Amino acid sequence: MENTVTGNNSIAVHCKGLTKSYGSGSNQVHALCGVDLEVRTGELMMLVGPSGCGKTTLISVIAGVLDRDGGECLVFGYDFKQMNPPEKTRYRGRNIGFVFQMFNLIPALTAAENVAVPLIINGAKRREAVGRAREILCRVGLSDRTNAVPAELSGGQQQRVAIARAMLHNPKLIVCDEPTSALDHETGHKVMELLREVAVGIGRALIVVTHDARIFGFADRIAKMDDGRITSIENSRIDLSSNTRH
Ligand SMILES: Nc1ncnc2c1ncn2[C@@H]1O[C@H](COP(=O)(O)OP(=O)(O)OP(=O)(O)O)[C@@H](O)[C@H]1O
Ligand SMILES: [Mg+2]
Repeated sequence: MENTVTGNNSIAVHCKGLTKSYGSGSNQVHALCGVDLEVRTGELMMLVGPSGCGKTTLISVIAGVLDRDGGECLVFGYDFKQMNPPEKTRYRGRNIGFVFQMFNLIPALTAAENVAVPLIINGAKRREAVGRAREILCRVGLSDRTNAVPAELSGGQQQRVAIARAMLHNPKLIVCDEPTSALDHETGHKVMELLREVAVGIGRALIVVTHDARIFGFADRIAKMDDGRITSIENSRIDLSSNTRH
Protein backbone atom coordinates (compact mmCIF):
# COMPACT_ATOMS: atom_id res chain seq x y z
CA MET A 1 0.00 0.00 0.00
CA GLU A 2 1.28 3.43 -0.87
CA ASN A 3 2.39 5.63 1.97
CA THR A 4 0.65 8.93 1.35
CA VAL A 5 1.55 10.55 4.65
CA THR A 6 5.14 11.54 4.10
CA GLY A 7 5.80 15.22 3.58
CA ASN A 8 2.18 16.32 3.75
CA ASN A 9 1.31 17.91 7.04
CA SER A 10 -1.32 20.51 6.26
CA ILE A 11 -4.42 20.54 8.40
CA ALA A 12 -7.71 18.98 7.32
CA VAL A 13 -9.61 19.42 10.58
CA HIS A 14 -8.86 21.84 13.41
CA CYS A 15 -10.87 21.68 16.64
CA LYS A 16 -10.03 23.80 19.67
CA GLY A 17 -12.06 23.97 22.88
CA LEU A 18 -15.02 22.47 21.04
CA THR A 19 -18.18 22.12 23.14
CA LYS A 20 -21.60 20.59 22.50
CA SER A 21 -24.48 19.82 24.87
CA TYR A 22 -27.82 18.14 24.33
CA GLY A 23 -31.02 19.12 26.14
CA SER A 24 -31.38 21.74 28.85
CA GLY A 25 -31.77 22.17 32.61
CA SER A 26 -31.46 19.01 34.65
CA ASN A 27 -31.63 16.92 31.47
CA GLN A 28 -28.60 18.56 29.92
CA VAL A 29 -25.83 16.23 28.72
CA HIS A 30 -22.39 17.72 28.06
CA ALA A 31 -21.28 15.52 25.17
CA LEU A 32 -18.20 17.54 24.15
CA CYS A 33 -16.38 19.41 26.93
CA GLY A 34 -13.51 21.17 25.14
CA VAL A 35 -12.19 18.95 22.37
CA ASP A 36 -8.76 19.79 20.95
CA LEU A 37 -7.95 17.81 17.81
CA GLU A 38 -6.06 18.32 14.58
CA VAL A 39 -6.34 15.90 11.69
CA ARG A 40 -3.71 16.34 8.96
CA THR A 41 -4.29 15.84 5.30
CA GLY A 42 -2.89 12.54 4.13
CA GLU A 43 -3.79 10.66 7.27
CA LEU A 44 -6.27 8.22 8.70
CA MET A 45 -7.13 9.32 12.23
CA MET A 46 -8.94 6.76 14.34
CA LEU A 47 -11.09 7.88 17.24
CA VAL A 48 -11.59 5.42 20.06
CA GLY A 49 -13.20 5.55 23.50
CA PRO A 50 -15.96 4.12 25.67
CA SER A 51 -19.62 4.18 24.68
CA GLY A 52 -21.17 7.58 25.35
CA CYS A 53 -17.86 9.50 25.48
CA GLY A 54 -18.87 11.74 22.55
CA LYS A 55 -17.34 10.16 19.42
CA THR A 56 -20.44 10.33 17.22
CA THR A 57 -21.17 13.85 18.46
CA LEU A 58 -17.64 14.98 17.61
CA ILE A 59 -17.60 13.64 14.06
CA SER A 60 -21.14 14.98 13.52
CA VAL A 61 -19.97 18.49 14.45
CA ILE A 62 -16.85 18.12 12.26
CA ALA A 63 -19.02 17.00 9.32
CA GLY A 64 -21.52 19.83 9.84
CA VAL A 65 -24.37 17.45 10.69
CA LEU A 66 -24.66 19.07 14.15
CA ASP A 67 -23.95 22.67 15.17
CA ARG A 68 -21.38 23.21 17.90
CA ASP A 69 -22.10 25.31 20.99
CA GLY A 70 -18.64 26.82 21.43
CA GLY A 71 -14.98 26.62 20.53
CA GLU A 72 -13.41 26.39 17.10
CA CYS A 73 -13.96 23.89 14.32
CA LEU A 74 -12.47 24.35 10.85
CA VAL A 75 -12.60 21.86 7.97
CA PHE A 76 -9.93 22.65 5.35
CA GLY A 77 -9.94 26.15 6.83
CA TYR A 78 -13.72 26.61 6.49
CA ASP A 79 -16.06 27.27 9.41
CA PHE A 80 -19.64 26.04 9.08
CA LYS A 81 -20.75 28.79 11.47
CA GLN A 82 -19.77 31.36 8.83
CA MET A 83 -21.95 29.74 6.15
CA ASN A 84 -25.67 30.10 5.49
CA PRO A 85 -27.68 26.85 5.16
CA PRO A 86 -27.41 26.52 1.34
CA GLU A 87 -23.65 27.23 1.46
CA LYS A 88 -23.27 24.64 4.17
CA THR A 89 -25.21 22.02 2.21
CA ARG A 90 -23.15 22.75 -0.90
CA TYR A 91 -19.86 22.58 1.00
CA ARG A 92 -20.80 19.30 2.68
CA GLY A 93 -22.11 17.87 -0.59
CA ARG A 94 -18.83 18.56 -2.36
CA ASN A 95 -16.28 17.91 0.36
CA ILE A 96 -17.55 15.55 3.02
CA GLY A 97 -18.67 11.91 3.04
CA PHE A 98 -20.32 10.49 6.16
CA VAL A 99 -20.80 6.83 7.02
CA PHE A 100 -23.42 6.82 9.78
CA GLN A 101 -23.37 4.37 12.68
CA MET A 102 -26.91 3.24 11.77
CA PHE A 103 -26.20 3.35 8.00
CA ASN A 104 -29.17 5.74 7.27
CA LEU A 105 -30.06 4.15 3.94
CA ILE A 106 -33.29 5.21 2.24
CA PRO A 107 -35.60 2.16 2.49
CA ALA A 108 -37.46 2.67 -0.80
CA LEU A 109 -34.32 3.01 -2.94
CA THR A 110 -32.13 0.21 -4.29
CA ALA A 111 -28.50 -0.12 -3.21
CA ALA A 112 -27.31 1.57 -6.42
CA GLU A 113 -29.83 4.42 -6.04
CA ASN A 114 -28.84 4.93 -2.38
CA VAL A 115 -25.17 5.19 -3.36
CA ALA A 116 -26.03 7.59 -6.21
CA VAL A 117 -27.89 10.09 -3.99
CA PRO A 118 -24.93 12.42 -3.18
CA LEU A 119 -23.99 12.67 -6.86
CA ILE A 120 -27.57 13.44 -7.87
CA ILE A 121 -27.75 16.11 -5.14
CA ASN A 122 -24.59 17.59 -6.66
CA GLY A 123 -26.30 17.86 -10.03
CA ALA A 124 -25.23 14.66 -11.84
CA LYS A 125 -27.66 12.97 -14.22
CA ARG A 126 -29.46 10.07 -12.58
CA ARG A 127 -28.43 7.49 -15.17
CA GLU A 128 -24.76 8.43 -14.97
CA ALA A 129 -24.85 8.57 -11.15
CA VAL A 130 -26.44 5.12 -10.85
CA GLY A 131 -23.88 3.75 -13.32
CA ARG A 132 -21.00 5.01 -11.19
CA ALA A 133 -22.76 3.74 -8.08
CA ARG A 134 -22.84 0.24 -9.58
CA GLU A 135 -19.08 0.43 -10.23
CA ILE A 136 -18.26 1.37 -6.66
CA LEU A 137 -20.65 -1.28 -5.32
CA CYS A 138 -18.57 -3.83 -7.26
CA ARG A 139 -15.48 -2.56 -5.46
CA VAL A 140 -17.09 -3.26 -2.07
CA GLY A 141 -18.10 -6.73 -3.26
CA LEU A 142 -21.78 -6.08 -3.94
CA SER A 143 -21.99 -6.40 -7.73
CA ASP A 144 -24.84 -8.90 -7.46
CA ARG A 145 -26.92 -6.85 -4.98
CA THR A 146 -27.11 -3.44 -6.68
CA ASN A 147 -30.87 -3.74 -7.31
CA ALA A 148 -31.77 -4.89 -3.79
CA VAL A 149 -33.47 -2.51 -1.36
CA PRO A 150 -31.95 -2.20 2.16
CA ALA A 151 -34.50 -4.57 3.77
CA GLU A 152 -33.27 -7.30 1.41
CA LEU A 153 -29.64 -6.83 2.46
CA SER A 154 -27.74 -8.19 5.47
CA GLY A 155 -26.36 -5.74 8.06
CA GLY A 156 -22.85 -6.06 6.62
CA GLN A 157 -24.11 -5.50 3.07
CA GLN A 158 -26.04 -2.38 4.18
CA GLN A 159 -22.87 -1.13 5.86
CA ARG A 160 -20.92 -1.55 2.61
CA VAL A 161 -23.64 0.35 0.71
CA ALA A 162 -23.31 3.18 3.25
CA ILE A 163 -19.51 3.19 2.79
CA ALA A 164 -19.84 3.21 -1.01
CA ARG A 165 -22.27 6.15 -0.77
CA ALA A 166 -19.79 8.17 1.32
CA MET A 167 -16.98 7.57 -1.21
CA LEU A 168 -18.77 8.05 -4.51
CA HIS A 169 -18.58 11.83 -4.86
CA ASN A 170 -14.85 11.70 -4.08
CA PRO A 171 -14.99 13.95 -1.00
CA LYS A 172 -11.84 15.41 0.55
CA LEU A 173 -12.90 14.34 4.04
CA ILE A 174 -14.64 11.08 4.89
CA VAL A 175 -15.87 10.42 8.42
CA CYS A 176 -16.97 6.90 9.32
CA ASP A 177 -18.81 5.83 12.45
CA GLU A 178 -17.93 2.20 13.20
CA PRO A 179 -17.58 1.23 9.51
CA THR A 180 -16.63 -2.38 10.22
CA SER A 181 -18.95 -3.18 13.14
CA ALA A 182 -21.18 -5.48 11.07
CA LEU A 183 -18.43 -6.95 8.90
CA ASP A 184 -16.46 -10.17 9.24
CA HIS A 185 -12.69 -9.97 9.56
CA GLU A 186 -11.87 -10.38 5.85
CA THR A 187 -14.57 -8.02 4.57
CA GLY A 188 -13.61 -5.46 7.22
CA HIS A 189 -10.01 -5.52 6.02
CA LYS A 190 -11.05 -5.16 2.38
CA VAL A 191 -13.28 -2.19 3.23
CA MET A 192 -10.50 -0.51 5.21
CA GLU A 193 -8.05 -1.04 2.36
CA LEU A 194 -10.51 0.51 -0.07
CA LEU A 195 -11.20 3.43 2.29
CA ARG A 196 -7.47 4.10 2.66
CA GLU A 197 -7.00 3.93 -1.08
CA VAL A 198 -9.76 6.39 -1.93
CA ALA A 199 -9.85 8.62 1.15
CA VAL A 200 -6.25 9.03 2.29
CA GLY A 201 -4.00 11.05 0.03
CA ILE A 202 -2.73 14.50 -0.80
CA GLY A 203 -5.28 17.06 0.36
CA ARG A 204 -7.54 14.34 1.80
CA ALA A 205 -8.24 12.84 5.20
CA LEU A 206 -10.22 10.03 6.79
CA ILE A 207 -11.59 9.86 10.34
CA VAL A 208 -12.76 6.48 11.57
CA VAL A 209 -14.57 5.95 14.87
CA THR A 210 -14.13 2.37 15.94
CA HIS A 211 -14.16 -0.18 18.75
CA ASP A 212 -12.73 -2.77 16.37
CA ALA A 213 -9.16 -3.54 17.47
CA ARG A 214 -8.72 -5.68 14.33
CA ILE A 215 -8.51 -2.51 12.21
CA PHE A 216 -6.31 -0.33 14.47
CA GLY A 217 -3.34 -1.16 12.23
CA PHE A 218 -4.87 0.87 9.38
CA ALA A 219 -4.58 4.10 11.39
CA ASP A 220 -1.80 6.64 11.07
CA ARG A 221 -2.72 8.08 14.48
CA ILE A 222 -5.20 7.03 17.14
CA ALA A 223 -6.99 9.64 19.28
CA LYS A 224 -8.42 8.41 22.57
CA MET A 225 -11.52 10.10 23.89
CA ASP A 226 -13.17 10.02 27.30
CA ASP A 227 -15.93 12.10 28.89
CA GLY A 228 -16.15 14.55 26.01
CA ARG A 229 -12.41 15.23 25.68
CA ILE A 230 -9.45 13.89 23.74
CA THR A 231 -7.19 12.32 26.35
CA SER A 232 -4.26 11.24 24.15
CA ILE A 233 -3.14 10.98 20.55
CA GLU A 234 -0.65 8.30 19.59
CA ASN A 235 1.08 7.34 16.40
CA SER A 236 -0.03 3.98 15.16
CA ARG A 237 2.55 1.37 16.05
CA ILE A 238 2.48 0.09 12.49
CA ASP A 239 5.49 0.99 10.35
CA LEU A 240 4.17 3.22 7.56
CA SER A 241 6.96 2.19 5.22
CA SER A 242 5.76 -1.38 5.43
CA ASN A 243 3.27 -2.78 2.95
CA THR A 244 1.68 -4.91 5.62
CA ARG A 245 -0.67 -3.00 7.88
CA HIS A 246 -2.37 -6.09 9.23
N1 LIG B 1 -29.75 13.43 20.53
C1 LIG B 1 -29.29 13.33 21.78
N2 LIG B 1 -30.00 13.86 22.81
C2 LIG B 1 -29.53 13.78 24.09
N3 LIG B 1 -28.37 13.22 24.43
C3 LIG B 1 -27.63 12.67 23.46
C4 LIG B 1 -28.05 12.69 22.08
N4 LIG B 1 -27.10 12.07 21.32
C5 LIG B 1 -26.15 11.68 22.20
N5 LIG B 1 -26.47 12.03 23.47
C6 LIG B 1 -25.63 11.82 24.68
O1 LIG B 1 -24.38 12.45 24.46
C7 LIG B 1 -23.32 11.64 24.96
C8 LIG B 1 -22.35 11.34 23.81
O2 LIG B 1 -23.03 10.53 22.86
P1 LIG B 1 -22.34 9.99 21.53
O3 LIG B 1 -23.41 9.38 20.71
O4 LIG B 1 -21.54 11.08 20.94
O5 LIG B 1 -21.36 8.86 22.15
P2 LIG B 1 -20.44 7.78 21.41
O6 LIG B 1 -19.07 7.95 21.96
O7 LIG B 1 -20.63 7.88 19.94
O8 LIG B 1 -21.05 6.40 21.95
P3 LIG B 1 -21.18 4.95 21.21
O9 LIG B 1 -19.79 4.34 21.23
O10 LIG B 1 -22.12 4.20 22.11
O11 LIG B 1 -21.73 5.15 19.84
C9 LIG B 1 -23.97 10.41 25.57
O12 LIG B 1 -24.10 10.60 26.94
C10 LIG B 1 -25.32 10.36 24.90
O13 LIG B 1 -26.27 9.75 25.74
MG1 LIG C 1 -21.48 6.58 18.52
